[in-house]
Amino acid sequence: MTKNVNGGMTVAIDGPAAAGKGTVAKAVAAHFGFAHLDTGLLYRAVAAKTLKGMDAEEAAQTLAPVDLEDPSLRNPDVAQEASKVAVIPAVRAALVRFQRSFAARAGGAVLDGRDIGTVICPDAPVKLFITASPEVRAQRRFAELSGKGIEITYETVLDDVKQRDMRDMSRDQAPLKPADDAKQIDTTEMAIEDAVAAAVALVEAKLADRG
Ligand code: CDP
Repeated sequence: MTKNVNGGMTVAIDGPAAAGKGTVAKAVAAHFGFAHLDTGLLYRAVAAKTLKGMDAEEAAQTLAPVDLEDPSLRNPDVAQEASKVAVIPAVRAALVRFQRSFAARAGGAVLDGRDIGTVICPDAPVKLFITASPEVRAQRRFAELSGKGIEITYETVLDDVKQRDMRDMSRDQAPLKPADDAKQIDTTEMAIEDAVAAAVALVEAKLADRG
């Protein structure tokens, strides 16, 4: 069911918070002309609604494209709440169909998240698991948030990253972990451009294999 039956390429990118998944996913999608879905945004959008008082399951079931455009979704309080709603099985279940149909696009698709290679697209021909030390990830996220004018300390960002990783790795359903056949890329001491180049090479090799 998760095979890209139309011959398009599905690229699954997973990894812990702020590891550079989004940057790599966007660059790979742009390089090959594939569509890109940041699946974290789905959980963040559910979280933004629960923070306003809506029931999490209802929020997931009624999610609309416009909900993904709210700029506050990138805020740290929404990220924390996202990792809390993400442990609820009914929330995850409500988001599966949309993610799988996106992955099956004929023109190719890149999805980044926590469970893409393990649960959403176990048959994806290319799977990447992108990691970096918590300190390096927190530095990058701190720079990103500060650049947007969000007032936050490095220590708060580091705490957020560690807490979410712990919650994401220890939940019962779809915990954060590399798929057995995922290629792991540690970007702690690697420029993000090199991670992008490695990802592009992997997709190119797979496309060449297919002829
Ligand atoms: O950008 P960052 O890596 O910090 O987070 P995100 O990808 O936007 O994800 C926010 C939260 O949503 C994560 O901490 C996870 O709890 C949850 N999530 C998930 O459970 N499964 C996914 N496929 C994507 C995100």
